[in-house]
Amino acid sequence: MKALVLAGGSGTRLRPFSYSMPKQLIPIANEPVLAYVLRAVRELGVTEVGLIVGTRRPEIEAALGDGSRYGVRLTYLPQDAPRGLAHTVSIARDFLADDDFVMYLGDNMLPDGVVDIAREFTARRPAAQVVVQKVADPRSFGVAELGPDGEVLRLVEKPREPHSDMALIGVYFFTAAIHEAVDAIRPSARGELEITDAIQWLVSSGAEVRASQYDGYWKDTGNVEDVLACNRHLLDGLSSRVDGEVDQESVLVGEVRIERGARVVRSRVEGPVIIGSDTIVVDSQIGPYTSIGRGCVVTDSRLEESIALDEASITGVRGLRGSLIGRAATVGISDQGTDHFRLVVGDHARVEVAA
Ligand code: G1P
Repeated sequence: MKALVLAGGSGTRLRPFSYSMPKQLIPIANEPVLAYVLRAVRELGVTEVGLIVGTRRPEIEAALGDGSRYGVRLTYLPQDAPRGLAHTVSIARDFLADDDFVMYLGDNMLPDGVVDIAREFTARRPAAQVVVQKVADPRSFGVAELGPDGEVLRLVEKPREPHSDMALIGVYFFTAAIHEAVDAIRPSARGELEITDAIQWLVSSGAEVRASQYDGYWKDTGNVEDVLACNRHLLDGLSSRVDGEVDQESVLVGEVRIERGARVVRSRVEGPVIIGSDTIVVDSQIGPYTSIGRGCVVTDSRLEESIALDEASITGVRGLRGSLIGRAATVGISDQGTDHFRLVVGDHARVEVAA
């Protein structure tokens, strides 16, 4: 089996971060989402991975290289514009040849793995096997109507009036039968070739299409709230490890990981927390549920349930919660007196101050 991983999307819901980095590289528990995706694919025994990339290819290539760090071999497959998930299958036609493959959306996290589902697919080899989970509001997803035995009766992309609460959650297994379906469909109302339509085409033409329910944790990390929620979830599985320095006056509580070259001085760190390499934390209170990247400086601050990306600097701010702070961003005290803030805020940034 091969894998097709999709990392071409532009990530408008993750602005301003997606202006300067592909959304699939947003770090969660200090590792880019795509790293988790590649490990999940490797866990299925798959080593040949086609990676669909758009204009953000240079950053993605710089981060992942040839994939060997994750035990896979990456073939970069450029897509000129986001023309839909089914369009990526046609781009990858030569790479995929007639092999079975798993298609994995590069911003979806299924940390409990899909090994069992892959095994079901390999044993039975239906034309397509989709992975579904019950959601409260299916209208923003592809939705599957299922028969009693897990067979897919009908699929609809983002239905206004859903007939099922089973959403497609970003992982699909296909045999080569999908290629004819992709060639047969036309663009949807949003102008994209929808994989949901291609799979529906298989259903309509009488091919076997099955669904497997994934009961584990799942997040589409497409917006800030979901990135923070996923960070909290992954940190829950953290185990302590201190490779950096912690002075006598600091206290670590619970699961705390301090990477090499990091220093914690006169501070309280309440896990789960990760502090990245070469980061300095002084006179501060960090955590719980906080990931701080590499080369950051946190002084005289309190930060919880947050993510700070590499080289961010936070000074004198007590009470940051639920925040996502970008690379080399600075958050500090204003020199405009006690009743003024001073903001230098980028496009589509979001600032919420105390009422
Ligand atoms: C895509 C698929 C949709 C699926 C979703 C999962 O939606 O089209 O069927 O349910 O991913 O994250 P998009 O993220 O393109 O809106």
